[in-house]
Amino acid sequence: MTEKSSPKPDHKKQHRAFFGRVSGKRLHRGQRELFDSLLPELRIDLPRDGQIDPKRIFGAQAKKRILEIGYGGGEHLTRIARENPENGHVGCEVFTGGIGKILKTIASENIKNISLFTSDAFGLLSALPDASLDMVYLLYPDPWPKLRHNKRRFVSNITLAELARVIRAGGEFRFATDIEDYANWTLAHMVRNKNFCWQKQNYDKFWHIPFEGWAPTRYELKARREGRLNSFYFTFRRCP
Ligand SMILES: C[S@@+](CC[C@H](N)C(=O)[O-])C[C@H]1O[C@@H](n2cnc3c(N)ncnc32)[C@H](O)[C@@H]1O
Repeated sequence: MTEKSSPKPDHKKQHRAFFGRVSGKRLHRGQRELFDSLLPELRIDLPRDGQIDPKRIFGAQAKKRILEIGYGGGEHLTRIARENPENGHVGCEVFTGGIGKILKTIASENIKNISLFTSDAFGLLSALPDASLDMVYLLYPDPWPKLRHNKRRFVSNITLAELARVIRAGGEFRFATDIEDYANWTLAHMVRNKNFCWQKQNYDKFWHIPFEGWAPTRYELKARREGRLNSFYFTFRRCP
């Protein structure tokens, strides 16, 4: 069965990516070697035009297709890939230190169900066919706390429109942040977006309860050390 797609969104040109930093400390030798040997095997290159075949990047047999945007050091992505060998996973990250870390974990644990995209995640979303994903994670995206920088946040009407296009009906978008203003920002965008329903739980302050099977990411641990003691965990389901 071939996956159908709607015409390419013309809002693509309106999206501008803002990254914190793309390179930090120099990679050590082992990481550099993995950039040369392992990354070419795992890296997703976008076709010049046309769409990417999800079977190629998630694996033809993948039971579910899971995407993580901004995986940082890859702690969450490698954990869910390890725990769910039947699923296919793609991680997007631009920071070379993070890419080096995940390569090291993938190599040392011989993880076989992760592919990597090393540019702006929006580029990958735009190249995917409609309804081709089961789940997308956006965990602790760069907060851009200054009011004048808020528009640099990954959550925007433009990115949500792309997420709504690529997540299948009944699939999920999971978001976590330690920044209350970003939580409010995301909810405000979602209230206006008729394609997603917030999965509310029937108990008090459920938004502070982590996703099932959760282990804190590196950034979450940093937030706790810095005194930000509560995070917000939202699950939005793609409406039919
Ligand atoms: C605050 S860090 C959080 C990392 C990780 N999710 C965690 O919880 O530890 C946000 C990460 O998102 C990455 N990032 C930001 N914008 C991105 C984009 N448009 N595409 C891919 N990665 C992006 C950054 O490089 C950074 O590593």
